[in-house]
This record gives sequence, C-alpha cells and structure tokens, in this order.
Amino acid sequence: MKNILVTGGAGFIGSNFIKYALQNTGFNLVNFDKLTYAGNLENLTDIEFNDRYKFVKGDICEKDEVEKAVHENEIDTIINFAAESHVDRSILGAKEFINTNVMGTHVLLEVLKDHKLEKYLQVSTDEVYGSLPEDKKEILFTESTPITTNSPYSASKASADLLCNAFHHTFGLPILITRCSNNYGPYQFPEKLIPLMIAKTLNGEKLPVYGDGKNVRDWLYVEDHCSAIIKVLSDGRSGEVYNIGGNNEWYNIDIVKLILKKLGKTDDMIQYVKDRPGHDRRYAIDSSKIADELGWKPAYDFETGITLTVEWYLKNEEWWKKVMSGEYQKYYSENYRDKIS
Ligand SMILES: NC(=O)c1ccc[n+]([C@@H]2O[C@H](COP(=O)([O-])OP(=O)(O)OC[C@H]3O[C@@H](n4cnc5c(N)ncnc54)[C@H](O)[C@@H]3O)[C@@H](O)[C@H]2O)c1
Repeated sequence: MKNILVTGGAGFIGSNFIKYALQNTGFNLVNFDKLTYAGNLENLTDIEFNDRYKFVKGDICEKDEVEKAVHENEIDTIINFAAESHVDRSILGAKEFINTNVMGTHVLLEVLKDHKLEKYLQVSTDEVYGSLPEDKKEILFTESTPITTNSPYSASKASADLLCNAFHHTFGLPILITRCSNNYGPYQFPEKLIPLMIAKTLNGEKLPVYGDGKNVRDWLYVEDHCSAIIKVLSDGRSGEVYNIGGNNEWYNIDIVKLILKKLGKTDDMIQYVKDRPGHDRRYAIDSSKIADELGWKPAYDFETGITLTVEWYLKNEEWWKKVMSGEYQKYYSENYRDKIS
C-alpha cells in the first residue's frame, strides 16, 4: 500500500483522517470528493500543499471519474468515507443516500475489481445494527449482530456493506469493513449533536433536544476512529468486519448538559422538540475483536476528547460560522477551480 484514494476526504472524518495519516504513515493520499454541502476544503488548508496530498474533485457514482483518479495517481488502495451521512436529511429525502451510499460504493467495488487494486476499506457505521434495548446494558453490538436498519441512512449504509461482502465472497476481492460508533471532534459539521449544541450555546440560542433526550450513543473521539482505520487497513483480515467504539455510552441530554456546563451556561437553554421519526434508542459497540486481534484501543478518554472539542470550537468560531452561513462553499471556486486540471 502506497497511494490511497480517500473518498469523502473533505468531510468531517475524512479530513481528520487525511491529517492523521500524513502525520502517522508514509502513504500518499488523494482526496476524491464531490464537495456536497458536507465537503469543506477549509478543513484541510493546513496541509493542502503537502507533497503527499492532492485534491481531486469527483463523484464516486461516476466510474470514469474514479478510474481517471486511480489511473493518474497509481492508486493501489481505496478508503471509502464518501457518503450522505445525516439521518435527518435521509428522512427528508432518501434518493441521494441511495445514489452515493449504495450506487457509489458499487462503482468503487467495480473499480477495485477491474483494476485489481490491493485493498479496499469501507467506512461503515454501527447504525446498521439497529437499536439496542435501553434496560439491558450488557447487550452490545458485535460483528455478528444481525443487520436491522431503521432509517434510510442506515439502510443505505447496510446495503453498501452487503455489496462489499458479496464482492469479497464472489470475486475474492480484498475488502475490509469497519463499523464505528458516533464520532465527535474538530471539523464536524454543525448540524450533528455535539457541534450543533456548542454553536447554539455560543450564539446564545435555545438548544433543541429530540424527544425526552434519553437516546443513548457511544461516543468516540475522531482521531481514535482514524487510528483504528489505519490498524484495520494494515493488519485486518480480508473479508472481515471490525467494530470500533469508545465503550462510552451517554444519554444525549447528558451530553447537552455537559456542554452547557463547560461553556458556563445553565440548563434553561434546553428546549425539548418533537422526536425524530424512527429514532433509534440506544447504540453501544463491543470493540473486543479489534482490541484482541489487532491491539487497537482508543487513546482519548471522553473528558479529554470533549474538552479538546469544546476548545476547538471556541478557537475556530470563524470556521463554524462560515459553515452555518454557507460561505465555506466559496472556498473551492476561489482557491481551486482555476488552478487544478
Ligand atoms: N460521523 C459519524 O459519527 C460516523 C460514525 C460512523 C461511521 N461514519 C461514516 O463515516 C463516513 C464519513 O462520515 P462523516 O461524518 O465524515 O461524513 P460527512 O458528511 O462529514 O462527509 C462526507 C463527505 O463525502 C463527500 N461526498 C458525498 N457524496 C459524495 C460523492 N458522491 N462522491 C464523492 N464524495 C462525496 C462529501 O462532500 C463530504 O466531504 C461516512 O461513510 C459515514 O457513514 C460516520
């Protein structure tokens, strides 16, 4: 493995991954991203002139665009972060989710097959396992938990996983799947829980919390997700699924209260709103397989990770304000479009 196509590298996890991999590996990285509303090249300004990094604007649904990037950059490995990733948006309209998450993954698998690439890693999610009972804390998602999808988003991610599995078994292709719990950290688009609550608090607005706020998520600092992906890519067994989690379950409402406390505000800023339809109650990951087999464990405890995150949003108000106003979308046209062939 030398030259990696990182699809969706301008998003939250992809951009953190690119920086982490430049620092911690010798890989050359090509960021292949369509720059949807979730793609933001300003996430990468600090490394955009690194010799081992290149940006290519492209759509994973367009085979010729993917093949051109693979051919021109002698790509041997694909890591697929590219996705429509926001559950709420999938409830408003599922089409783009099926296009990118299912059809786009299929295109990448065809490219893997046709070009005999060395490796492919599908970045999936714990949401493919559905919802866990709230009162049985001993039950966690393992890699053999049946796929049970409840939102158009998770259904599209699960469909992609099934395609990956089929392409591995039918064609013997070198495919790995990771399923991670909820990530948080720098550069997360402020429509997701943690950055949204930080931004609203800093703006002095009410903090909208779905339902009774008692949905449980297992939170992992984004850099730990990145280190796990590198581990699986390097040492994982082809055809296997690896769960990645923080062993760190929180009620949403408690996360919101913690953020308010860290920012010196009180709970009266919380406003309960009508629940999301089909809202999964609890996710919790058993990550003993990746721990036992590959020796991975998270480096950040939650107190450290959330403190770093809150501090990052405090220091980078300009970044999230531009995202919220939509101004970030100008970055590509102002800095790239005329300079890149
Ligand atoms: N955020 C989480 O907590 C979490 C947890 C587990 C797994 N995941 C998975 O990790 C991956 C990355 O998540 P994220 O939170 O960084 O998402 P994100 O929405 O922040 O980023 C997605 C990126 O993909 C790009 N993209 C979308 N459609 C594309 C297409 N057709 N072609 C090329 N690029 C396209 C976007 O422009 C964006 O840069 C997703 O596959 C998601 O399912 C996310």
